[in-house]
Amino acid sequence: MFTPLTAEIDADYASLARQAASLLEDERDLTANAAQFSAFIYQSLADLNWAGFYWVKPAKKAGGEELLVGPFQGKVACARIAFGKGVCGTAAAERRAILVPDVHAFAGHIACDAASNSEIVIPVMKDGQLYGVLDIDSPTLNRFRPEDLQGLEALLALFVAATDFA
Ligand code: SME
Repeated sequence: MFTPLTAEIDADYASLARQAASLLEDERDLTANAAQFSAFIYQSLADLNWAGFYWVKPAKKAGGEELLVGPFQGKVACARIAFGKGVCGTAAAERRAILVPDVHAFAGHIACDAASNSEIVIPVMKDGQLYGVLDIDSPTLNRFRPEDLQGLEALLALFVAATDFA
């Protein structure tokens, strides 16, 4: 299904980048910036039902690492996601951004919120290290376009540069 371009859905990413830079300029704390950035994305983009972070953490049961939910806006979510599972776990394992037009067609998708129908997940990388993923979900099929992925990658790059991770 093709969702036509509409003024309500289109975001002005150049303007959002200026706002994000201003929002983050005086603070470098990871929790504070991640919380602010999640709220900023959630309130700035139309038609979302979840926006936030999962961080790479030591796995609770087996060895290795997994994703643990971090600051976000939206409904209560799955706390832990194994690397390679769902869209978030796949983006983390493969260290690549994933745009999913229809989550129900993505093998292994994790339905934390049954309302989600499309999503974008982008790895959070700094100095070659993976710290987590940014997950953005919409209740609308085909909500996201390549321009959204590019715009969100640019916003996330601002967040990463403005934030201390270690
Ligand atoms: N949709 C994600 C799970 C996380 S939540 O939706 C917040 C996935 O399949 O990775």
